[in-house]
Amino acid sequence: GAPVEVDISKLEDGQMVRVEWRGKPVWVVRRSDAVLKELGGHDGQLRDPSSAEPQQPEYAQNEFRSVKPEIFLAVGICTHLGCSPTYLPNTFNEQVSGISAGFFCPCHGSKFDMAGRVFAGVPAPLNLVVPPHTFLDDNTILVG
Ligand code: FES
Repeated sequence: GAPVEVDISKLEDGQMVRVEWRGKPVWVVRRSDAVLKELGGHDGQLRDPSSAEPQQPEYAQNEFRSVKPEIFLAVGICTHLGCSPTYLPNTFNEQVSGISAGFFCPCHGSKFDMAGRVFAGVPAPLNLVVPPHTFLDDNTILVG
């Protein structure tokens, strides 16, 4: 499949833009400072907090699983059986107490944080996949 260009110039804190790449949904989310802070606080609740399983390109092998901390990309497909998780920007604390935002898979209840890292004790075995991507400039990302 051809690479896909994404314009993030209008993307505000907490917003997500969805594009399709190779027939798969790809999410692009702008994470607020508050969300970035939150990411450091729950490693003990995650199955693979350092993303040792290679579910991201090498340049996104870091605590935020991204090139720029504020911009997060993920393939929007649950690593359990392939449903598409729901983005909960404000109500994720109903799923995991104390955590404001994340992704919830309605099919069998898997939960992922705002770096796409899977919580322990749910069916999904792996963190969400971070697709290959490049920043063409501050407001344009090439996925693929
Ligand atoms: Fe997501 Fe099963 S497909 S929890």
